[in-house]
Amino acid sequence: MLYRVPFIDPREHYRRIKDEIDFAITDTLSKGDLVLRQQLRDFEQHLAEFVGTKYAVGVNSGYHALHFSLLAVGAGPGDEVITVGHTFVATVSAIVHTGAKPVLIEVREDYNMDPAALEAAITLRTKAIIPVHLNGRVCEMDRIMAIAGKHNLAVIEDAAQSLGAKFKGQGAGSFGTAGCFSFYPFKSLGGLGDGGAVTTNDPAVARLATLLRFNGEDRQTGDFHYHGYTALLDNVQAAVLDVKLRHLPSWINHRRKIATLYRQGLKEIQGLRLPHFPGEWNFDSYQNYVIRTARRDELRQSLKDDGIETLVHWAKPMWSYEGLKLEDPELHETLNICREVISLPMSAETTAEQVEITVKSIQNFFASQGAAVSSSSAHRP
Ligand SMILES: Cc1ncc(COP(=O)(O)O)c(C=O)c1O
Repeated sequence: MLYRVPFIDPREHYRRIKDEIDFAITDTLSKGDLVLRQQLRDFEQHLAEFVGTKYAVGVNSGYHALHFSLLAVGAGPGDEVITVGHTFVATVSAIVHTGAKPVLIEVREDYNMDPAALEAAITLRTKAIIPVHLNGRVCEMDRIMAIAGKHNLAVIEDAAQSLGAKFKGQGAGSFGTAGCFSFYPFKSLGGLGDGGAVTTNDPAVARLATLLRFNGEDRQTGDFHYHGYTALLDNVQAAVLDVKLRHLPSWINHRRKIATLYRQGLKEIQGLRLPHFPGEWNFDSYQNYVIRTARRDELRQSLKDDGIETLVHWAKPMWSYEGLKLEDPELHETLNICREVISLPMSAETTAEQVEITVKSIQNFFASQGAAVSSSSAHRP
């Protein structure tokens, strides 16, 4: 189906920076620089500077960034790793693949880890915590780091959705032992295919990720130190990502402007919860613009009928999938979120006109449903 307002527009994204992208690709290919060359080192250096860490190690996905970071802090059989129930399955799969047990806890209204639930979930077996900075918003990291410090636990940030977001001026992925990023094409910094990175200030973590991504081999000596993985960030990808990283600050500004336009258009609708949360310390990058309503499915169908593409992350909690063999953690807020969330079109290419069309469609939906337009909703931001 061709949408009047697409969720994202990868063709327009490419068109706007085509010359730079094409040059990066042809330059890399014509030099024959395919594996572990200068383009990768340059991107890693620029990414580390952007995040605010000493090191960045390019890998082939956010999943592998998480898996390697967990291995770096020694997570394994007999350990528990605490993360949230409201995240992409890869966060939890990375824990499961180390042999550790995932302990899933509740999120707060802003879809991020609840520090009180974290404290309550810590046991003698807890090895690490993975706060997930969802939708472009950093968790309350000062509280989470304080709790981790008190119990001597490693913190691995799942920052797959939050490159460029900040808390108290500090970048996502620079608080814990490691930060994990995804460059899946539709992320704020999206590659040509899968990609990811580990950021860290710890040279031992950087070295381990560097070895594990290349089958355990130290490229300087040719010695194999571990049974590793084939999980390198390709050079061509790094060259393209390096080009895009230069645009990221302006893309994030654009996303924030689009979020403001949505807010202006939707704030009076009763029963609609918008992603503008209290917390003067957060600088949100709006990877996703997620709204909440009890009438989610009807609203989504109505938007579709108007030619507006939306997504739902995620319609079912991951423990409901039998094949994942996860215990039901009985997270009621997470269950409600699954029933109520809907993500509106949001990207660096989303236009004010597209927001206007989307806002009108949502206003019409609620007006036709007889919802009063009010300024006194308890959940309104
Ligand atoms: C919160 C979160 N964690 C982890 C991942 C995994 O990243 P990747 O798809 O690059 O493996 C994603 C990507 O979708 C994500 O959104």
